[in-house]
Amino acid sequence: MSINIPRGTQDILPGEVEKWQYIEKVARDVCRRFNYKEIRTPIFEHTDLFLRSVGDTTDIVQKEMYTFTDRGDRSLTLRPEGTAAVVRSFVEQKLFGNPSQPTKLYYIGPMFRYERPQAGRFRQFVQFGVEALGSMDPAIDAEVIALAMEVYQSLGLKKLKLVINSLGDKDSRTAHRDALIKHFEPRIDEFCGDCKSRLDKNPMRILDCKKDRDHELMKSAPSILEYLNEESKVYFEKVQSYLTEFGIDFEIDSGLVRGLDYYNHTAFEIMSNAEGFGAITTLCGGGRYNGLVEDIGGPDTPGIGFALSIERLLSALKAEEIELPLEETIDCYVVGLGDNASAKAATLVHQLRKNEVSAEKDYLNRKVKAQFKAADRLGAKLVGVIGDDELERNVINVKDMDSGNQEEVLLTEFIAYIKEKLR
Ligand code: HAM
Repeated sequence: MSINIPRGTQDILPGEVEKWQYIEKVARDVCRRFNYKEIRTPIFEHTDLFLRSVGDTTDIVQKEMYTFTDRGDRSLTLRPEGTAAVVRSFVEQKLFGNPSQPTKLYYIGPMFRYERPQAGRFRQFVQFGVEALGSMDPAIDAEVIALAMEVYQSLGLKKLKLVINSLGDKDSRTAHRDALIKHFEPRIDEFCGDCKSRLDKNPMRILDCKKDRDHELMKSAPSILEYLNEESKVYFEKVQSYLTEFGIDFEIDSGLVRGLDYYNHTAFEIMSNAEGFGAITTLCGGGRYNGLVEDIGGPDTPGIGFALSIERLLSALKAEEIELPLEETIDCYVVGLGDNASAKAATLVHQLRKNEVSAEKDYLNRKVKAQFKAADRLGAKLVGVIGDDELERNVINVKDMDSGNQEEVLLTEFIAYIKEKLR
């Protein structure tokens, strides 16, 4: 019996992988322009890290983590998201002590969540995310949002909707929490078991419930925006005015609560409103998480960031029918005819490669016609043809596949000739 790929994961094959590389390159380039530096953290962390950061009443922690015990009896978890690990590293590696602050980081890597697989929802998916630690300036909230928008726009996406909200500071949230308990408590019996258990522990999570989303009490639930204290209100207004100043359109949605517990103040999501995008329209999510660094044992440091998955980005590109400008051709194919010339072709191809020219040859002992076909399939710009006769005369024929022109070139001048032709 053959073994299949695990549910919710995918193989990314040549032909498709070029798109991933292109997107990663664009993301890295945008980060360079915005002055964010790459950080790489482990794929697994101590389970406690996620309990303390993502929150033990969230779906991610309660239902979706890949947790295992290693041979040393430690509980480890495949990371379901990137923020917790970045903050752990910020604390552990004392990045707060660096002279250049705020600490602006980005990451690209696989994340793991045991979710029900469907279009746009995988069990292993790749997030690109950024985290800015150490600044409580509303300009950096706008910068982080602008960075996410810039990645999408650099790839040609247009049908985007940015939704923002403020979850306020601790005091605002406590006031809101009390109002939520008052609102839901009298009729909590009409809600699912998860909601019931969240009422006291974390009533805001009820607003995020997928099962009870259509209950009438959901729509009439008190909005966090009514409970923002003056400071939180002013902060949120400043973020909005920066976004307006940057020319970034947004909508305010007081129901946007995000699925992770560490947020306060600014929360945001970017959706695709392209037709045919499918049911899950959220491309990107993020927000501010003042207090998280302290929760993980570091000094009181504010933070904000976002993450987006490449999988959903690709779906958005498809929905908007955007073709990425991928370079899929090869510079030169060397056709060898006969044993000696074929051996010479191997050396020539090697020399081309050493000289920054992408090159290929035949390894299946194919006839000339089949070798030309292979060159064609690879999109070779130039094809060198060498037979035993040419080899004896120390020459090679080079065909320009665009113009169809052919020239005989001395073997000693072959590399220089090819490089010149490609310029
Ligand atoms: P999140 O909203 O859980 O936030 O995930 C962010 C993004 O990851 C989503 O908007 C979506 O694009 C993608 N994503 C999540 N789950 C899946 C899945 N199963 N399949 C495919 N894509 C998925 C976070 O992860 C936070 N760490 C974001 C953040 C960074 N907040 C502050 N800094």
